[in-house]
Amino acid sequence: MPVITFANTKGGAGKTTAALILATELARAGNRVTVLDADPQRWISTWHELSGRVPNIDVISEITMASIQGHIIENRGNTDYFIIDLAGARNSLLATAIGLSDHVLIPIQGCSMDAKGGAQVLELLAQLEKQVGVRIDHSVVLTRVSSLVTTRALQVVKVLLASRNVRVLETPIVERAAFRDVFDCGGTLQTMDPARVSNLDKARENARVFAEEVRRLVPLHVTRAFRRAA
Ligand SMILES: Nc1ncnc2c1ncn2[C@@H]1O[C@H](COP(=O)(O)OP(=O)(O)O)[C@@H](O)[C@H]1O
Ligand SMILES: [Mg+2]
Repeated sequence: MPVITFANTKGGAGKTTAALILATELARAGNRVTVLDADPQRWISTWHELSGRVPNIDVISEITMASIQGHIIENRGNTDYFIIDLAGARNSLLATAIGLSDHVLIPIQGCSMDAKGGAQVLELLAQLEKQVGVRIDHSVVLTRVSSLVTTRALQVVKVLLASRNVRVLETPIVERAAFRDVFDCGGTLQTMDPARVSNLDKARENARVFAEEVRRLVPLHVTRAFRRAA
């Protein structure tokens, strides 16, 4: 049961949106997903309450530094993937969640070059490796990318990050109404009405390809050894 954490110390980077897309897609593919909602604003918990039962998805709210590892240990028998959604803050819960993760996904808005919140997470990961010798695998995911942005413009951002040895996912998350509306409507991209949401088919395809890529990066059987022993 790998743990995937979405982290960026800046709010509005697209963490919660990407976390929900990944959770619902992994669940749709038959994986049992437990979302640990570590954001006091409870966006995913509210979505879950609005949605009623969503097959294969559990959401645990009000996660604290003291409780987070216990939730993972308690639920590892009934969970294929844990997804942690963090608040946009640089605090000790961020460090604790990162320390428990098999993979950290760092959403950065593809078109603004304001990647400071993402850079802080990358620094924290580098510190962890240098000071404690623990290397947590991680990737940047470009989010809220305009559908009009050319592949070439995205390529520039990718090359820039690659020059700093940061992996960037092939699949950016595009700015789509469906990714906003799903929080208001509840349910998933599959239960939304294509007649009422523009470009729903494109949003569904984007979500599918994004989750596929994450699934290849973080296969089911890969979990950090210490948790198996715990
Ligand atoms: N891919 C997207 N398409 C459309 N709207 C998005 C997308 N990603 C994020 N948003 C919107 O941007 C705002 C911030 O996104 P959110 O996922 O809450 O970021 P964070 O969790 O990093 O604070 C929200 O209003 C959300 O609906
Ligand atoms: Mg959020």
